[in-house]
Amino acid sequence: MKHLVEALRRNRSLDDDGLRTLLESDDTALADALHSSAREVTDEVFGRQVWLRALIEWSNVCRNDCLYCGIRRSNHALVRYTLSRDEILACCDAAWNQGIRTFVLQGGENPLAAAELLVGIVGAIRVCWPHAAITLSLGELPAETYARLRQAGADRYLLRHEAADPQLYTRLHPAGMDWQNRIDCLHTLRRLGFQTGMGMMVGAPFQTTRHLIQDIRLIETFRPEMIGLGPFVPQHDTPLGSYPAGRAETTLRLYSILRLMLPHALIPSTTALSSLLHGNRLAGIRAGANVIMPDFTPARERAAYALYDGKNAAWMETTGNLSRLRQELAEAGYSINPSRGDYAESVFLLS
Ligand code: 5AD
Repeated sequence: MKHLVEALRRNRSLDDDGLRTLLESDDTALADALHSSAREVTDEVFGRQVWLRALIEWSNVCRNDCLYCGIRRSNHALVRYTLSRDEILACCDAAWNQGIRTFVLQGGENPLAAAELLVGIVGAIRVCWPHAAITLSLGELPAETYARLRQAGADRYLLRHEAADPQLYTRLHPAGMDWQNRIDCLHTLRRLGFQTGMGMMVGAPFQTTRHLIQDIRLIETFRPEMIGLGPFVPQHDTPLGSYPAGRAETTLRLYSILRLMLPHALIPSTTALSSLLHGNRLAGIRAGANVIMPDFTPARERAAYALYDGKNAAWMETTGNLSRLRQELAEAGYSINPSRGDYAESVFLLS
């Protein structure tokens, strides 16, 4: 069966049956071969290096009502917050002082706040830190707002497509949310010159291997610069809160498959994966991920950014304290690259 891994690596693609085997097989030797092949390719392109992104969860106010998500509008158990401009700048300052050169502003979908507050805040960050990359993750916004954010200095945008299959998308989202609009947003972002990220939850309720293969095909076709994948983890105040979590092992196999398809992609080892693995950030890196996103949200607000249960476990890095992560990486033979880590093909991304 290892020929499947070799074929995927050589052709940067594989047929549906092969993908199904790689995702479902009980053969641990096959899974090991998949992960080590993906890691070799990652080493060839990037070396044994990891890029850090400072995650700033700037607001949990959200107009949407996604059935899986803890910050959905209908969750009244949550205290809502929005960080001020000064608080956001303080997070950036802390991250910069830790040597992190990408700030990720993530928040609930709030078009008014995005247009009226964030455009100005992005501009301020751009002026204060001209050499930092600014990534946004703010959901679906009007093309005009995306354009203003880009103009203000944002470089990258993460918008998970959530499900390549429109029917699955509909089952995971409330009436009124439209799969086509999601896809259109991704194309708009790319057209505006954002490095664009997409992705999905692994093991979401109702999701089958067939759906995951559709997700892989969508990613393979779109060729995003970044790929965000984490397991579904139930959140108890949501309609899907009693479904089981997705599997870490399947998530790791997807990192490897997508690494072999898109060798230059920036793939984070996500927080949701680590929380299933009790804080293990390295498993994802060993499977071909090359980005880690430490949380720089102030401790007071972090608890309220409750996308899923267990997200704020004790293992999470705290602002100003990355030493354990640095040590873990060093012990495993990885170094942290100090550059912004922009997407580039054929370039070895040294600073
Ligand atoms: N489990 C895992 N990931 C989740 N997200 C939202 N809710 C959950 C959950 N229960 C992810 C979604 C979304 C991002 C903000 O967080 O994929 O895109």
